[in-house]
Amino acid sequence: MNTSSKISIELVSKYFGRGGDQVRALASIELNVRQNEFITLVGASGCGKSTLLRILGGLETIDEGAVRVDGQAIEGPGVDRAMVFQHYSLYPWLTVRQNIQFSRRLKTNRRDLSSSAVEVASGRADALLRLMGLTHVADAFPNQLSGGMQQRVAIARALQGKPSILLMDEPFGALDAQTREVMHDLILHVHALEKSTIVFVTHDVEEAIYLGHRVVLMAPRPGRIDTIYDVPLPAVRDPEMKLAPEFNALKRQILARIRETSGMKTDLEMLEQLTRTEA
Ligand SMILES: Nc1ncnc2c1ncn2[C@@H]1O[C@H](COP(=O)(O)OP(=O)(O)OP(=O)(O)O)[C@@H](O)[C@H]1O
Ligand SMILES: [Mg+2]
Repeated sequence: MNTSSKISIELVSKYFGRGGDQVRALASIELNVRQNEFITLVGASGCGKSTLLRILGGLETIDEGAVRVDGQAIEGPGVDRAMVFQHYSLYPWLTVRQNIQFSRRLKTNRRDLSSSAVEVASGRADALLRLMGLTHVADAFPNQLSGGMQQRVAIARALQGKPSILLMDEPFGALDAQTREVMHDLILHVHALEKSTIVFVTHDVEEAIYLGHRVVLMAPRPGRIDTIYDVPLPAVRDPEMKLAPEFNALKRQILARIRETSGMKTDLEMLEQLTRTEA
């Protein structure tokens, strides 16, 4: 076990199904994530990115190996780890402020909470509303907001319980390109401010490089780690960096490797062969 790791993933395997239909969703995954590190996970569809994230979130069990946070084995979900998904999953009947303030934990334990604890929670909710630029819509309902705003509410809600780990599964996948760029700088700001450790899944290689300290490339059948890339950019990111030659070189390298490992190349070749025969 690596004692300096915030998260240590030790030879983790995960299977779905039985017999001939069994899928090896993850095969001997090994990864150590440092405290305050920003890890981005990329890879072809079906390579196990979401499964790995759900395991870290305690929403999925493992068949082999061990996963530890601060040296402790994960046993189900915990307030130290918050998840944000592509679909905002807000409570439609609660306002923005209520969505942020009444996290599941506060909701279930509300009767036992002292008034000072409620005050602390609402103070934090106000601070998060400001941080996310949502103060003016605090009393609106989710269906009155744009997709980008809804996702900011979802992130604020995830941060409400002061999690030390943020697990994000394609959180900006449903947003348009401009909104996504704004969200990138926002999440980097949150990362610096909250000193969180972030594991972030994306299909967007540019996003993975811009946000990550390291980009972890996974490959399918079986789901495994193929390559880990160190991102050669300064710690404080700036959108201008996307124009740098080393940024584009890394982007090309990762895209080529995803194509090689996805099996898509062979599919494309087959398609070409088919069309050639038909012509
Ligand atoms: N609950 C489940 N039951 C059976 N098979 C599953 C289940 N969840 C995932 N799988 C399988 O495990 C593999 C990994 O799936 P996973 O959703 O983790 O991939 P992913 O990398 O997140 O893909 P995508 O990029 O499309 O979101 C796939 O083959 C998938 O079909
Ligand atoms: Mg997925």
